[in-house]
Amino acid sequence: MDVYEAIKNRKSIRKYKSTPIPEEKLKKILGAMRLAPSAKNLQPWKFVIVRDEEIKRKLIPACNNQKFIAEAPIIIAGCAFEDECYTYMGGYTSSYPVDLGIAFDHLMLAATSEGLGTCWIGSFKEEKVKEVLGIPKNVRVVGLTPVGFPDESPEAKPRKNLSEIVCYDKYE
Ligand SMILES: Cc1cc2nc3c(=O)[nH]c(=O)nc-3n(C[C@H](O)[C@H](O)[C@H](O)COP(=O)(O)O)c2cc1C
Repeated sequence: MDVYEAIKNRKSIRKYKSTPIPEEKLKKILGAMRLAPSAKNLQPWKFVIVRDEEIKRKLIPACNNQKFIAEAPIIIAGCAFEDECYTYMGGYTSSYPVDLGIAFDHLMLAATSEGLGTCWIGSFKEEKVKEVLGIPKNVRVVGLTPVGFPDESPEAKPRKNLSEIVCYDKYE
């Protein structure tokens, strides 16, 4: 599957089969995530791959009762080292949410290409996720995603037209 096809085919999946993910596929998608760019190539991240059924279940309340996440054989939590990222992006902000977002997007597109589904989980309580996964105080949780074989084929969600989101030469 080429990159355009993966981009087109990726959709947030909220229903999963319990079929395990072959190790080979998991390695491939984690490899794609590893190759993501980050500000100054600092790679201020760590990813917790959760396979344990009980830990997955405990993540449900931490993710505001989004039960479908635990249907998937794996949940990945994207963690960031706030003190090790580039802190002056645009002269005003830290790079870690962007760094992690790119890494997760690599993961998600690679997963699509492998016939796997994902769904960004941004609705979660950081303190609760940290407690369940034993994540240290100085590490941030940026997002999570279940990964598994889809058990639904949702329609593509609408997007704004290019003419609405692009302008040329000057902002207008
Ligand atoms: C930062 C971010 C946070 C999100 N958080 C959630 C979430 O907590 N739960 C959920 O079901 N979907 C979540 N989504 C998925 C969006 O709802 C979804 O990407 C959007 O509706 C477009 O649909 P699509 O991914 O199928 O193209 C999140 C997406 C992003 C990018």
